Amino acid sequence: MYTARPEENRPVPDLSKLPPDFVWGVATAAYQIEGAVDVDGRSPSIWDTFSQVPGAVANGDTGAVACDHYHRWPEDVALMRRLGVDAYRFSVAWPRVRPDGVGAVNPKGLDFYDRLVDTLLATGIRPFVTLYHWDLPQALQDRGGWPERATAEAFADYASVVAARLGDRVADWNTVNEPLCVSWIGHLEGRMAPGERDLTRAVRTSHHVLLGHGLATQAIRAAAARPASVGSVLNLSPCEPATDRPEDVAAARRMDGHVNRWWLDPLHGRGYPADMVAAYGVEPPVRGDDLAVIATPTDFLGVNYYFRQVVVDDPDGPPPYARQVPVPGSVETAMGWEMYPAGLEQLLVAVSEEYAPARIIVTESGSAWPDEVGPDGAVEDKERTDHLERHLEACASAVARGVPLAGYFVWSLLDNFEWAYGYDKRFGLVHVDYPTQRRTVKASGLRYADLIRAHQRHTGSAEAVPVRG
Ligand code: FCB
Repeated sequence: MYTARPEENRPVPDLSKLPPDFVWGVATAAYQIEGAVDVDGRSPSIWDTFSQVPGAVANGDTGAVACDHYHRWPEDVALMRRLGVDAYRFSVAWPRVRPDGVGAVNPKGLDFYDRLVDTLLATGIRPFVTLYHWDLPQALQDRGGWPERATAEAFADYASVVAARLGDRVADWNTVNEPLCVSWIGHLEGRMAPGERDLTRAVRTSHHVLLGHGLATQAIRAAAARPASVGSVLNLSPCEPATDRPEDVAAARRMDGHVNRWWLDPLHGRGYPADMVAAYGVEPPVRGDDLAVIATPTDFLGVNYYFRQVVVDDPDGPPPYARQVPVPGSVETAMGWEMYPAGLEQLLVAVSEEYAPARIIVTESGSAWPDEVGPDGAVEDKERTDHLERHLEACASAVARGVPLAGYFVWSLLDNFEWAYGYDKRFGLVHVDYPTQRRTVKASGLRYADLIRAHQRHTGSAEAVPVRG
């Protein structure tokens, strides 16, 4: 159990178990930071549409301006250099590259990412490109969106366009970010774009998103000029029953199926879990060799971790008829998510033992807190620092237990548009004052820089980069 307040002056955690070539990164996503939604030929995405729906996003916020990264990206790359990160995971906006979803390519859209990649490489930062972080071109939604198989094919086609352009320099690729959110939150719970609430369409979406991942994996490898390392990105949660009642134990198993196995099983050649097909009462629309395509071997598994799920049976609720309940005495972030670093170690060990991926990368981990800029201009976000250190310790423990963990990306570089929560929830290592777009590295960002440098010194790969000032 955690103390309610982070300890003052905690010693630097022992991260010596992390391998010498461990990749230290930060992550963002296009719609959450770029803004410039109608600039240089970008077309609307489903998030431009969804954020206009009254009540869909807190305060009526939209990504129209966000962090204005589309114009301020050189400053943001300079911030990453100050933090001393090895890698930057960002997403390419499909509606910038292919405004109609298929067909004509928009050269200005590709040019933007081309310049970004060149500058990152010149700065010594390795680009990790995510091809889909939720901003489906609205034109494809108008033709049916992810519930249609054609969207998976369009995704692979778009992936090959991006890989053909960037794949001479980019080596690291993520296909789809969090199929769970696209499928269950976007099409079953309706809390994210496109805001649907339909189990059959959600199950169809899940299959087409996984199929799109498999097709895109093949397309990237075929189109990239240099060897591509490709992985999927899943948000996973350890699931536990809140009590030992048999109904709750069964509910935890269903939640595990819904959150974890529905994605991990088909990606690892096991097909869809039969217990979940029965629980949903809906068959995914598998055709021909779809399951083999979905199980195309990948180079790494990306894991996003935010919380565990402690659940009770909920027969009258929505699928999977299990409900997450609060954990008494736990520390919650501003999202109301339990801070539970032990869950990350548990998850990494369990996934590694059960599915034996070649490598695992934590592609997102981070936390939101009600940050304030102090009178001296500093942001003393002790809770985020504590969260960061404890999750890195969990990674080091997982490595000590044999997990082939290759890197860790903090969500997020910058405070940004947190989807349906709008700008209220701040996840950044760098504070953004939205009216002025002023960036301030938070104490957690400075601490991350220290941890990276300590690890590099320990492993002999230190590079002298001034962090403060
Ligand atoms: C993840 C998303 C990311 C961000 C974090 C907080 O589910 O991938 O874009 O919203 O949650």
